[in-house]
Amino acid sequence: MRLYEQKKWWKRALAIIALCIGIFSIWYTTKLVKQLSIEEEKKIKLWANATQSMAKAEGNIDFMLDIVTGNETIPIILTDGNNNIISYRNLDSIQAKDTAFLNDQLLEMKSEHEPIKIVYDAENDFYNLLYYKNSIVLTQLKAYPAIQLALIGFFAIMSYLALSSSRRAEQNQVWVGMSKETAHQLGTPISSLNEWINLLRETPKEEQGYLLDELQNDTKRLELITERFSKIGSEPILKEENMDLVVEKSMQYMKTRVSSLVNIHINIAKPGNWAKINVPLFDWVLENLSKNAIDAMNGKGELNINISHDTKFVYIDIHDTGKGIPKSKFNTVFKPGFTTKKRGWGLGLSLVKRIVEGYHKGKIFVRNSEAGKGTTFRIMLHVA
Ligand SMILES: Nc1ncnc2c1ncn2[C@@H]1O[C@H](COP(=O)(O)OP(=O)(O)OP(=O)(O)O)[C@@H](O)[C@H]1O
Ligand SMILES: [Mg+2]
Repeated sequence: MRLYEQKKWWKRALAIIALCIGIFSIWYTTKLVKQLSIEEEKKIKLWANATQSMAKAEGNIDFMLDIVTGNETIPIILTDGNNNIISYRNLDSIQAKDTAFLNDQLLEMKSEHEPIKIVYDAENDFYNLLYYKNSIVLTQLKAYPAIQLALIGFFAIMSYLALSSSRRAEQNQVWVGMSKETAHQLGTPISSLNEWINLLRETPKEEQGYLLDELQNDTKRLELITERFSKIGSEPILKEENMDLVVEKSMQYMKTRVSSLVNIHINIAKPGNWAKINVPLFDWVLENLSKNAIDAMNGKGELNINISHDTKFVYIDIHDTGKGIPKSKFNTVFKPGFTTKKRGWGLGLSLVKRIVEGYHKGKIFVRNSEAGKGTTFRIMLHVA
């Protein structure tokens, strides 16, 4: 519940930040546009003044406009007092041959800025009008924030959709996989219980003793499974344990369930490997890793577990003589949904990682692997 509340707040905060960035960007470009526009107006006025003073000395207007060659960006049209076009600058030279185009431009300029009056002879009321419009740079700059925001918005929406759909796919996989794992884990002890019950029916009362023990083994197994699932998602209680014994016990169970062609060895390099763990959860880790190892060996080979420690960590290396993992997949194997098996869900190792790193603050990784020779997974736990 709290997760969804938090998510809502995050979404809101992000939306507000995005809005602020948008507003700031628009405000800033508007400011720039205004400044640039003032600059352009100043330039035009300067040119108009230059033209005016040149005209007083000399009469050739085209020549004067040529003198003002500094203006290479701002489109201008010069008209006489009656709005007849005399000359122009910085307009598309081919289109400008067309009078209709020039008149359109003139209208546009009229709507954008007041013309600048260039007075040549005040007594005879002889003057020209200098019309101008924003330079292309300025026009583009005005449109820039809108285009930029539209692009960023589009990009943000697309990546949000892509991310949420991939997250949904991942969640689906975990849901389905978790249910399958539950059914799978419960399946074995339940079918074995059924078998014992059938046997019990056919066995005379005085010979039933060993059957009751077997029944109890299976109910214990069911209890363990319930405990495991109830531990996932809640804070597990960690206790100091001797890892030698934990591994020993867990492998004892594995040994009864694998073919006799798989040899399981436990090598304790240095006794006294104590770490703080939650036994039911850690059992699950060992079970998943050894199941994977046995799968990789196709039911035949050596499964070696080496346990050692230094001052900081207890190391548990699980080594098999199976088909190996390519180097490029060393990290990928831990991703939920990654599997190369026909009936696999790709959940085992993601669960293992979650238990080792999430619940025990340890580390797990592929220590090394060689195609056709085998793989070593290493678990590191803090020394207790
Ligand atoms: N010891 C190993 N040797 C070779 N490949 C391995 C080993 N352990 C894991 N892998 C590879 O990593 C993949 C993912 O393992 P993981 O345990 O997450 O899923 P899975 O075993 O395919 O399915 P699940 O465990 O959900 O039934 C496996 O399909 C396999 O390709
Ligand atoms: Mg597996």
